[in-house]
Amino acid sequence: MTELILSLDVLDRQRARAIAESCAPFIDAIKVGYPLVLSTGLSIAGDLAELGLPLIADFKVADIPNTNRLICEAVFAAGFDAVIAHGFVGADAARTCVEVAHSHSGEAYIVAEMSHPGATEFFHGGVAERLAALAVASGADGIIAPATRPDRVRELREIVGKRKIYSPGVGAQGGDPDVVARLVDGIIVGRSIYEAEDPAAEAERLSRIRR
Ligand code: XMP
Repeated sequence: MTELILSLDVLDRQRARAIAESCAPFIDAIKVGYPLVLSTGLSIAGDLAELGLPLIADFKVADIPNTNRLICEAVFAAGFDAVIAHGFVGADAARTCVEVAHSHSGEAYIVAEMSHPGATEFFHGGVAERLAALAVASGADGIIAPATRPDRVRELREIVGKRKIYSPGVGAQGGDPDVVARLVDGIIVGRSIYEAEDPAAEAERLSRIRR
């Protein structure tokens, strides 16, 4: 069944906790990125872990291997279950993230292609395909691919096979959940849920399109 991953890009600890708690029955994981962590500190991971859902750290880690290792060790020590890293820094740096994740029984995902319009400037022309291949060669658990471009997701699926594809860009960025949910292992949804009048109701609605 396609997972529904809540992207919790709010800035306030209490609001983050309240939204996560109300949506918890309808979601499969929570993705936390810089907006929330820079506002509240890494300790937000401990708060959210109380809900018992996997926590994904979307820090798009992109540094030299040693720094990647230090970042990922901090991520997993804080209680996260998975990390998102960039692959354009090279196989050695990406592999470091995978190794640290797996040493903590966690997962690592490599960004293959981003969802926003500007992503086509650099990710197209064979780059995303190379990043997807790098993810496979590095032993990553999967890739991040754009819900805004289902055709690209199909092409990248040819490269990653049964490895997971998590896909942001649903809703606020224009991606159609009905289309993309058939192609990927998880849809990542932020604003459509946390800016809704009733976030839990929106999460429940989206959870029904999982298949
Ligand atoms: P919205 O509000 O647009 O939030 O539903 C989407 C979330 O996903 C992140 N995002 C991406 N992360 N590769 C990534 O690794 C991408 O292509 C991508 N596009 C969006 C975004 O930062 C937000 O947290």
